[in-house]
Amino acid sequence: MSNLLILGGRAGEHLAIRIAKTLNAELGEIEVKHFPDNEIYIRIKSDVESKDIIYINSLQRGPNDLIVETIYTLETIKELGARRIIAVIPYMAYARQDDRFNPGEAISIKILAKMFKSIGLDKLYTIDMHLHRITNPKEIFGEGFENLTAIGEIAKYIKQNHSIENSIVIGPDEESKQWAQIMAKELGGLEYDILVKRRITAEKVVIEPKEVDVSGRNVIIIDDIISTGGTIEEAVKVLRKLNARKLIVACVHPILVGRALPRLLRLNLTDLIGTDTILSPISKVSVAPVIVKAILKFLK
Ligand code: R5P
Repeated sequence: MSNLLILGGRAGEHLAIRIAKTLNAELGEIEVKHFPDNEIYIRIKSDVESKDIIYINSLQRGPNDLIVETIYTLETIKELGARRIIAVIPYMAYARQDDRFNPGEAISIKILAKMFKSIGLDKLYTIDMHLHRITNPKEIFGEGFENLTAIGEIAKYIKQNHSIENSIVIGPDEESKQWAQIMAKELGGLEYDILVKRRITAEKVVIEPKEVDVSGRNVIIIDDIISTGGTIEEAVKVLRKLNARKLIVACVHPILVGRALPRLLRLNLTDLIGTDTILSPISKVSVAPVIVKAILKFLK
Protein backbone atom coordinates (compact mmCIF):
# COMPACT_ATOMS: atom_id res chain seq x y z
CA MET A 1 0.00 0.00 0.00
CA SER A 2 1.54 3.28 -1.03
CA ASN A 3 1.45 6.45 1.06
CA LEU A 4 0.85 4.36 4.18
CA LEU A 5 3.45 4.23 6.91
CA ILE A 6 3.25 1.90 9.91
CA LEU A 7 4.99 2.95 13.11
CA GLY A 8 5.29 0.97 16.33
CA GLY A 9 6.01 2.29 19.81
CA ARG A 10 8.10 0.22 22.20
CA ALA A 11 5.09 -1.88 23.22
CA GLY A 12 3.57 -2.06 19.75
CA GLU A 13 6.47 -2.86 17.45
CA HIS A 14 5.65 -6.59 17.26
CA LEU A 15 2.20 -5.73 15.92
CA ALA A 16 3.48 -2.95 13.65
CA ILE A 17 5.86 -5.41 11.93
CA ARG A 18 3.10 -7.95 11.41
CA ILE A 19 0.58 -5.40 10.18
CA ALA A 20 3.04 -3.74 7.77
CA LYS A 21 3.76 -7.17 6.27
CA THR A 22 0.09 -8.04 5.85
CA LEU A 23 -0.75 -4.67 4.31
CA ASN A 24 2.43 -4.66 2.23
CA ALA A 25 3.09 -1.18 3.65
CA GLU A 26 6.26 0.65 4.65
CA LEU A 27 7.44 0.04 8.21
CA GLY A 28 8.91 3.18 9.77
CA GLU A 29 11.28 3.76 12.61
CA ILE A 30 11.10 5.78 15.82
CA GLU A 31 13.96 6.34 18.22
CA VAL A 32 12.97 6.33 21.88
CA LYS A 33 15.49 6.80 24.65
CA HIS A 34 15.75 8.31 28.10
CA PHE A 35 17.91 11.12 29.41
CA PRO A 36 19.85 10.50 32.64
CA ASP A 37 17.03 12.08 34.67
CA ASN A 38 14.55 9.72 32.95
CA GLU A 39 12.92 12.31 30.72
CA ILE A 40 11.94 10.69 27.44
CA TYR A 41 13.44 11.52 24.01
CA ILE A 42 11.43 10.78 20.85
CA ARG A 43 12.60 11.12 17.26
CA ILE A 44 10.52 10.02 14.27
CA LYS A 45 13.17 8.76 11.87
CA SER A 46 10.86 8.17 8.90
CA ASP A 47 9.29 10.82 6.71
CA VAL A 48 5.63 11.19 7.72
CA GLU A 49 4.71 14.31 5.72
CA SER A 50 1.51 13.91 3.67
CA LYS A 51 1.31 10.20 4.54
CA ASP A 52 -1.38 8.14 6.25
CA ILE A 53 0.21 7.02 9.49
CA ILE A 54 -0.75 4.03 11.59
CA TYR A 55 0.85 4.22 15.02
CA ILE A 56 0.58 1.24 17.38
CA ASN A 57 1.46 1.15 21.06
CA SER A 58 0.00 -0.70 24.05
CA LEU A 59 -0.15 1.12 27.38
CA GLN A 60 0.76 -2.00 29.29
CA ARG A 61 2.77 -2.84 32.44
CA GLY A 62 4.39 0.39 33.64
CA PRO A 63 1.97 2.47 31.56
CA ASN A 64 3.04 5.96 32.63
CA ASP A 65 6.22 6.11 30.54
CA LEU A 66 4.38 4.52 27.59
CA ILE A 67 1.63 7.14 27.84
CA VAL A 68 4.17 9.96 27.57
CA GLU A 69 5.87 8.14 24.67
CA THR A 70 2.55 7.68 22.86
CA ILE A 71 1.22 11.22 23.32
CA TYR A 72 4.56 12.85 22.39
CA THR A 73 4.90 10.61 19.32
CA LEU A 74 1.37 11.26 18.06
CA GLU A 75 1.70 15.02 18.59
CA THR A 76 5.01 15.01 16.71
CA ILE A 77 3.55 13.02 13.82
CA LYS A 78 0.80 15.65 13.61
CA GLU A 79 3.26 18.55 13.71
CA LEU A 80 5.38 16.95 10.99
CA GLY A 81 2.44 17.12 8.59
CA ALA A 82 0.98 13.61 8.37
CA ARG A 83 -2.11 13.43 6.17
CA ARG A 84 -4.18 11.21 8.45
CA ILE A 85 -3.28 9.62 11.79
CA ILE A 86 -4.71 6.32 12.91
CA ALA A 87 -3.69 5.42 16.45
CA VAL A 88 -4.04 1.81 17.60
CA ILE A 89 -3.85 1.33 21.36
CA PRO A 90 -4.49 -2.41 21.76
CA TYR A 91 -4.39 -2.13 25.55
CA MET A 92 -5.72 1.13 26.96
CA ALA A 93 -4.42 1.69 30.48
CA TYR A 94 -6.40 3.21 33.34
CA ALA A 95 -9.75 2.07 31.92
CA ARG A 96 -10.67 0.48 35.25
CA GLN A 97 -10.37 3.85 37.05
CA ASP A 98 -13.51 5.11 35.32
CA ASP A 99 -15.16 6.75 38.33
CA ARG A 100 -14.41 8.58 41.55
CA PHE A 101 -14.86 5.58 43.82
CA ASN A 102 -13.58 7.53 46.86
CA PRO A 103 -13.71 11.30 47.41
CA GLY A 104 -10.86 13.17 45.75
CA GLU A 105 -9.80 10.41 43.34
CA ALA A 106 -8.73 11.22 39.78
CA ILE A 107 -10.96 9.70 37.10
CA SER A 108 -7.83 8.62 35.26
CA ILE A 109 -9.38 7.34 32.05
CA LYS A 110 -11.16 10.65 31.45
CA ILE A 111 -7.90 12.59 31.75
CA LEU A 112 -6.12 10.16 29.44
CA ALA A 113 -8.98 10.35 26.93
CA LYS A 114 -8.73 14.16 26.96
CA MET A 115 -5.05 13.92 26.00
CA PHE A 116 -5.85 11.64 23.03
CA LYS A 117 -8.76 13.85 21.97
CA SER A 118 -6.65 17.01 21.99
CA ILE A 119 -4.29 15.57 19.33
CA GLY A 120 -7.05 15.50 16.71
CA LEU A 121 -6.62 11.89 15.57
CA ASP A 122 -8.55 10.69 12.54
CA LYS A 123 -9.14 7.32 14.16
CA LEU A 124 -8.39 5.75 17.53
CA TYR A 125 -8.76 1.99 17.88
CA THR A 126 -8.63 0.07 21.15
CA ILE A 127 -9.19 -3.64 21.65
CA ASP A 128 -11.65 -4.90 24.24
CA MET A 129 -11.16 -1.83 26.35
CA HIS A 130 -12.54 -2.19 29.88
CA LEU A 131 -15.66 -0.16 29.16
CA HIS A 132 -17.81 -0.42 32.22
CA ARG A 133 -19.10 2.87 33.57
CA ILE A 134 -18.07 4.88 30.47
CA THR A 135 -21.07 4.25 28.27
CA ASN A 136 -20.26 6.65 25.43
CA PRO A 137 -16.48 6.57 24.89
CA LYS A 138 -16.74 8.79 21.77
CA GLU A 139 -17.78 11.60 24.09
CA ILE A 140 -14.46 11.57 25.95
CA PHE A 141 -12.05 10.23 23.28
CA GLY A 142 -13.56 11.93 20.23
CA GLU A 143 -15.68 10.78 17.28
CA GLY A 144 -12.90 8.62 15.77
CA PHE A 145 -12.89 6.24 18.74
CA GLU A 146 -13.70 2.60 18.01
CA ASN A 147 -13.39 -0.38 20.32
CA LEU A 148 -12.60 -3.63 18.47
CA THR A 149 -12.89 -7.12 19.90
CA ALA A 150 -10.42 -9.99 19.86
CA ILE A 151 -12.87 -12.50 21.32
CA GLY A 152 -13.58 -13.91 17.82
CA GLU A 153 -9.86 -14.64 17.31
CA ILE A 154 -9.63 -16.34 20.73
CA ALA A 155 -12.72 -18.42 19.88
CA LYS A 156 -11.06 -19.50 16.60
CA TYR A 157 -7.99 -20.66 18.52
CA ILE A 158 -10.15 -22.60 21.01
CA LYS A 159 -12.09 -24.30 18.19
CA GLN A 160 -8.86 -25.26 16.42
CA ASN A 161 -7.18 -26.65 19.52
CA HIS A 162 -9.92 -28.08 21.75
CA SER A 163 -13.19 -29.92 21.65
CA ILE A 164 -15.96 -27.64 22.87
CA GLU A 165 -18.44 -30.43 23.38
CA ASN A 166 -20.29 -30.29 26.71
CA SER A 167 -18.83 -26.83 27.41
CA ILE A 168 -20.15 -23.67 29.03
CA VAL A 169 -18.60 -20.17 28.96
CA ILE A 170 -18.18 -18.46 32.33
CA GLY A 171 -17.24 -14.84 33.06
CA PRO A 172 -15.64 -14.42 36.50
CA ASP A 173 -17.57 -11.25 37.35
CA GLU A 174 -20.46 -9.06 36.27
CA GLU A 175 -18.29 -6.87 34.02
CA SER A 176 -17.13 -9.90 32.02
CA LYS A 177 -20.67 -10.67 30.86
CA GLN A 178 -20.05 -8.73 27.62
CA TRP A 179 -17.07 -10.95 26.72
CA ALA A 180 -18.74 -14.20 27.86
CA GLN A 181 -21.70 -13.36 25.66
CA ILE A 182 -19.56 -12.80 22.54
CA MET A 183 -17.43 -15.88 23.24
CA ALA A 184 -20.51 -18.10 23.65
CA LYS A 185 -21.88 -16.82 20.34
CA GLU A 186 -18.53 -17.21 18.51
CA LEU A 187 -18.35 -20.80 19.76
CA GLY A 188 -21.59 -21.61 18.01
CA GLY A 189 -24.15 -20.61 20.59
CA LEU A 190 -22.81 -22.17 23.78
CA GLU A 191 -24.50 -21.45 27.06
CA TYR A 192 -22.89 -18.77 29.26
CA ASP A 193 -23.13 -17.45 32.79
CA ILE A 194 -21.21 -15.19 35.15
CA LEU A 195 -19.92 -15.38 38.72
CA VAL A 196 -20.18 -12.63 41.32
CA LYS A 197 -16.91 -11.03 42.42
CA ARG A 198 -16.08 -8.72 45.30
CA ARG A 199 -12.68 -7.01 45.28
CA ILE A 200 -10.99 -6.83 48.69
CA THR A 201 -7.60 -5.38 47.64
CA ALA A 202 -5.79 -4.90 44.32
CA GLU A 203 -4.48 -8.47 44.68
CA LYS A 204 -7.34 -10.22 46.47
CA VAL A 205 -10.89 -10.88 45.37
CA VAL A 206 -13.68 -13.04 46.71
CA ILE A 207 -16.02 -14.88 44.38
CA GLU A 208 -19.36 -15.30 46.06
CA PRO A 209 -20.89 -18.77 46.03
CA LYS A 210 -23.38 -18.85 43.18
CA GLU A 211 -24.98 -21.82 41.51
CA VAL A 212 -23.85 -22.05 37.91
CA ASP A 213 -24.58 -25.16 35.90
CA VAL A 214 -21.02 -26.47 35.46
CA SER A 215 -21.18 -29.88 37.15
CA GLY A 216 -19.62 -32.50 34.86
CA ARG A 217 -19.09 -29.91 32.13
CA ASN A 218 -16.01 -28.36 30.56
CA VAL A 219 -15.67 -24.64 31.24
CA ILE A 220 -14.19 -21.82 29.21
CA ILE A 221 -13.47 -18.87 31.52
CA ILE A 222 -13.14 -15.56 29.71
CA ASP A 223 -12.08 -12.17 31.08
CA ASP A 224 -10.69 -9.01 29.47
CA ILE A 225 -7.63 -8.70 31.71
CA ILE A 226 -5.49 -11.00 33.82
CA SER A 227 -3.35 -8.82 36.05
CA THR A 228 -2.38 -10.46 39.36
CA GLY A 229 -4.29 -13.65 38.53
CA GLY A 230 -6.38 -13.30 41.71
CA THR A 231 -9.72 -13.23 39.89
CA ILE A 232 -8.98 -16.34 37.85
CA GLU A 233 -7.57 -18.25 40.83
CA GLU A 234 -10.74 -17.64 42.83
CA ALA A 235 -13.01 -18.43 39.87
CA VAL A 236 -11.20 -21.73 39.28
CA LYS A 237 -11.56 -22.69 42.97
CA VAL A 238 -15.30 -22.00 42.92
CA LEU A 239 -15.85 -23.83 39.62
CA ARG A 240 -13.87 -26.90 40.79
CA LYS A 241 -15.97 -26.99 43.98
CA LEU A 242 -19.01 -27.09 41.71
CA ASN A 243 -17.49 -30.14 39.94
CA ALA A 244 -16.46 -28.51 36.68
CA ARG A 245 -14.35 -30.82 34.50
CA LYS A 246 -11.71 -29.38 32.14
CA LEU A 247 -10.98 -25.68 32.51
CA ILE A 248 -9.73 -23.43 29.72
CA VAL A 249 -8.89 -19.86 30.79
CA ALA A 250 -8.67 -17.07 28.23
CA CYS A 251 -8.16 -13.34 28.40
CA VAL A 252 -7.53 -10.57 25.91
CA HIS A 253 -4.88 -8.65 27.83
CA PRO A 254 -2.33 -10.79 29.69
CA ILE A 255 -0.77 -8.10 31.90
CA LEU A 256 0.45 -10.86 34.24
CA VAL A 257 2.14 -8.76 36.91
CA GLY A 258 4.57 -10.20 39.45
CA ARG A 259 3.97 -13.89 40.13
CA ALA A 260 0.69 -14.08 38.21
CA LEU A 261 2.00 -16.61 35.68
CA PRO A 262 3.26 -19.25 38.16
CA ARG A 263 0.10 -18.65 40.20
CA LEU A 264 -1.98 -19.57 37.15
CA LEU A 265 0.25 -22.43 35.98
CA ARG A 266 -0.21 -24.09 39.39
CA LEU A 267 -3.96 -24.32 38.69
CA ASN A 268 -3.37 -27.18 36.25
CA LEU A 269 -5.59 -25.74 33.54
CA THR A 270 -6.26 -27.45 30.21
CA ASP A 271 -5.14 -24.26 28.47
CA LEU A 272 -4.25 -20.70 29.39
CA ILE A 273 -4.68 -18.26 26.53
CA GLY A 274 -3.97 -14.57 25.99
CA THR A 275 -3.46 -12.35 22.97
CA ASP A 276 -0.52 -10.23 21.86
CA THR A 277 -2.08 -6.87 22.81
CA ILE A 278 0.55 -7.35 25.52
CA LEU A 279 3.37 -9.77 24.72
CA SER A 280 3.59 -12.56 27.29
CA PRO A 281 4.35 -16.31 27.47
CA ILE A 282 0.61 -16.98 26.96
CA SER A 283 0.15 -14.70 23.91
CA LYS A 284 -1.06 -17.53 21.69
CA VAL A 285 -3.54 -15.46 19.68
CA SER A 286 -2.65 -12.42 17.57
CA VAL A 287 -4.89 -9.38 17.33
CA ALA A 288 -3.21 -8.34 14.06
CA PRO A 289 -6.06 -9.69 11.85
CA VAL A 290 -8.63 -7.66 13.83
CA ILE A 291 -6.57 -4.46 13.43
CA VAL A 292 -5.89 -5.07 9.73
CA LYS A 293 -9.58 -5.63 9.01
CA ALA A 294 -10.55 -2.38 10.76
CA ILE A 295 -7.82 -0.36 9.02
CA LEU A 296 -8.78 -1.68 5.58
CA LYS A 297 -12.41 -0.74 6.24
CA PHE A 298 -11.40 2.79 7.32
CA LEU A 299 -9.03 3.38 4.39
CA LYS A 300 -11.48 2.07 1.76
C1 R5P B 1 -11.67 -6.17 36.34
O1 R5P B 1 -12.84 -6.18 36.66
C2 R5P B 1 -11.15 -6.93 35.18
O2 R5P B 1 -12.17 -7.28 34.29
C3 R5P B 1 -10.36 -8.17 35.58
O3 R5P B 1 -11.23 -9.12 36.14
C4 R5P B 1 -9.28 -7.82 36.56
O4 R5P B 1 -8.56 -6.71 36.14
C5 R5P B 1 -8.34 -8.99 36.78
O5 R5P B 1 -7.39 -8.60 37.72
P1 R5P B 1 -6.62 -9.67 38.58
O6 R5P B 1 -5.97 -10.65 37.64
O7 R5P B 1 -5.59 -8.85 39.32
O8 R5P B 1 -7.58 -10.30 39.51
